[in-house]
Amino acid sequence: MPLADFLSQLAELETAAREAFAAAADTHALEAARVEFLGAKGGRLKAAQKGLGTIPPADKPAAGQRFNAVKTQIDADFAAAKERLASAATTGQAADFDPTTPGTPLVLGHLHPITQTIEELKDIMGRLGFSATEGPEIEDEWHNFEALNIPASHPARDPLENFYLATAESVAGAGGTPGAPLLLRSQTSTVQIRVMENTRPPVRIVSLGRVYRPDTADATHYPMFHQIEGLLIDRRVTMADLKSVLRLFATSYLGRDVHIRFRPSFFPFTEPSVEVDMQWGEHWIEFGGAGMVDPNVLSAVGYNPDEVSGFAFGLGVERLCARRHHVTDIREFYKNDVRFLHQF
Ligand code: DAH
Repeated sequence: MPLADFLSQLAELETAAREAFAAAADTHALEAARVEFLGAKGGRLKAAQKGLGTIPPADKPAAGQRFNAVKTQIDADFAAAKERLASAATTGQAADFDPTTPGTPLVLGHLHPITQTIEELKDIMGRLGFSATEGPEIEDEWHNFEALNIPASHPARDPLENFYLATAESVAGAGGTPGAPLLLRSQTSTVQIRVMENTRPPVRIVSLGRVYRPDTADATHYPMFHQIEGLLIDRRVTMADLKSVLRLFATSYLGRDVHIRFRPSFFPFTEPSVEVDMQWGEHWIEFGGAGMVDPNVLSAVGYNPDEVSGFAFGLGVERLCARRHHVTDIREFYKNDVRFLHQF
């Protein structure tokens, strides 16, 4: 083939390739064009290369040079088209992105309302000079009943009124009588005994924690709930001290305008005993019991009832928290519904 024909063939090929790559609107079209022009088998550039062999020897160097230049140009045109499509893809995304759109807020967790209440109640009582202590949730009958002046015949000890543990028995070293039955504590009054067994008067403690009773859950009951127990033992402690501490406690947590009242009652471990009510709108709701520590309890822990006296109280934490936040059903605290919990 004469040189002139070969060169014009190359020029035509170069133009066709440039136009085809420029016209490719997406990666599929570009790939089709690449196969057409640059395909290793049957591509048009490959076909043109075959023409080189038919060029007269004297013209071969010129033909070869021109062929290489065209090949380089077609490769460059392909690369440019590829680049154009890639950047179009990202600019397309960037156009959709609105930096002023509000982000998705992170949901931060926080302490459960009952835990928050416990912390706050500890704080209030701490300011009144009561230090916080803890006791075990698995108890023996001595601490849950016997030492609290609740004899074996007492209805509060009925197995149907308590969560006795079927297999566990206390072991030596755990603080109880080896082999004695164990139960989930039904009241935090157990901690009064544990503290008095280990300290000499004066005593001024609170203990906040879980208690368990086989009660049917309703708006004011739950089979597991929390109590705050208070105990003050000293010389010449009176009922008036009890009343002023509880009033201070209630108004600190619930607000100055919340009234409390005492109703005569009975607990085996206090004499006299009262039930403590707080005002809730038109109504009064019981939030616990209290009284002067019974001399039998003082004797059980080795104190001399002629020398010291004291008061004790045990209040329901859920009811206090519910009253403060106007929650009308304490079961809400245990549904784990974040829509409820987020409000605290
Ligand atoms: N332990 C009692 C109960 O769970 C509440 C109670 C009453 C605690 C009188 C006391 C108290 O410390 O003195 O029903």
